[in-house]
Amino acid sequence: MGLVQKVVFFMVLAVLYVSSSMAEVYKVGDYSGWTNQNMPDYKKWSASKDFKVGDSIVFEYSPQNHSVVQVSYEDYKKCNSSSPMKTFISGKDTIPIKRKVHLFFICGVSDNCGKGQKVDIRVVTGDTPATQNPPSVSAPAPSANNAVSISKGHIGKFGFVILAVVAAITY
Ligand SMILES: *[C@@H]1O[C@H](CO)[C@@H](O)[C@H](O)[C@H]1NC(C)=O
Ligand SMILES: *[C@@H]1O[C@H](CO)[C@@H](O)[C@H](O)[C@H]1NC(C)=O
Repeated sequence: MGLVQKVVFFMVLAVLYVSSSMAEVYKVGDYSGWTNQNMPDYKKWSASKDFKVGDSIVFEYSPQNHSVVQVSYEDYKKCNSSSPMKTFISGKDTIPIKRKVHLFFICGVSDNCGKGQKVDIRVVTGDTPATQNPPSVSAPAPSANNAVSISKGHIGKFGFVILAVVAAITY
């Protein structure tokens, strides 16, 4: 590959990397929203997503007919909304994902939960917030070939793009 092609190739990789790690907003149930009419398979919906710290989930529903109750895992299993951790009733509730957690939500209206209107959000990836983990740059590696091996998160996304270009030019 010529230099230009290499630069372009690494730029494309870098852009893919950056966009794959951007914050997403997920609407629970996609176009169906939070409902018991033609109820989406919320388990399947949630399993198909890769929730990260920084993403948000949005529940959209008719507030006369539904609610969103955040509960413990035990209460999620039993559909017990009598001791909620949080209750949302606006009809359009955005819940930011702030850390790696496993969140459980059920509908608090009649027996909707028992019929399947419940969802668990498992957050498995995400950097710890920068404030808790001050940026540090590792000492330069002795070998020239290792000069660009810097773990992601230390330098940040734009740093990664620059590194990719440098890598393309170097190799
Ligand atoms: C929502 O509730 C209202 C009154 O409580 C009812 O008339 C309506 O049919 C319900 N809509 C749906 C989509 O269930
Ligand atoms: C639901 O939770 C409440 C409070 O934690 C508890 O008193 C009640 O027994 C639970 N109900 C069921 C059916 O588990």
